[in-house]
Amino acid sequence: MSVVAIARVLLPAGLEPIRDLAKIRIGGVDATPDRVREITAGAEALVADPTVGVDAELLDAAGPGLRLVANFAVGYDNVDLEECRRRGIVVTNTPDVLTNATAELALTLTLAAARFLSEGERDLRAGRWQGLEPGAYRGLELSGATVGVVGLGRIGGRYAELLAGFGVELLYAARSPKPEAEARLAASRVELEELLRRSDVVSLHAPASPETHHLIDAEALRLMEEQAVLVNTARGSLVDLAAVAAALREGRLGAVGLDVYEDEPRIPAEILEAPHAVLAPHIGSATIKARDAMARMVTDSVIAVLDGCEPPNRVV
Ligand code: GLV
Repeated sequence: MSVVAIARVLLPAGLEPIRDLAKIRIGGVDATPDRVREITAGAEALVADPTVGVDAELLDAAGPGLRLVANFAVGYDNVDLEECRRRGIVVTNTPDVLTNATAELALTLTLAAARFLSEGERDLRAGRWQGLEPGAYRGLELSGATVGVVGLGRIGGRYAELLAGFGVELLYAARSPKPEAEARLAASRVELEELLRRSDVVSLHAPASPETHHLIDAEALRLMEEQAVLVNTARGSLVDLAAVAAALREGRLGAVGLDVYEDEPRIPAEILEAPHAVLAPHIGSATIKARDAMARMVTDSVIAVLDGCEPPNRVV
């Protein structure tokens, strides 16, 4: 029987269809890299997620029988694609089914950060709130604001669509123009520098890559408005958190809404202590609908590869 290694966990929606087809080894949510290597040895398929680094070392540990890395995520920066390609290992991801969920979380973080929701709730729970105060918690109103979307792909595009009812001016920065989306969303394409200068809200939707590493650094933050809101639901590596924390502390940035961090699950103390930060624990795709669909997609890839068929959503 084929061995399928699930580096951490797979939801029942994904597990059930393969339960009788393969011998399943499960690392558990707290699986260490050693444990993942151990359960992957001799496997034909590996189910990974963004917290699992699929590198040459893990692929060596898996051995020559490994045919598939099915990543439970749309992003696959945790997988060394070149190594997989070189070894003839197929890599798949889970696009589309999480687009709405992630765009909705980006909108949630935009609104929550713009209105200092975390701060207000913390004050209230701690008994510091003394009743309505005209000058307190005055945030950014989305109506009439300029929103800059960095990366107008599936998730960035859906986020822009959701914003349509708010009466915002939409800017976007992207490697290539998106004429259809521009027309549909009344969005204007500008260079990143102009987007940072003009936007009241900047929301990141670009993949992690060497080009996007610390796209938002101290220099980028200097271009942004003092009241601006920064939202990141893409990947932590896009943002230099130390620079963001300093900007928040010094009042050079209005607020942030973050769902992803560079070294998850470790969060630097400086961002935990910074004012005006709404911090979510990487829950972009965490709706029942999206996560079940992602689990099924991962399993569809596993079944296809074990059957010797072409899997859906192949990236390598
Ligand atoms: C989650 O982070 C994903 O890429 O799907």
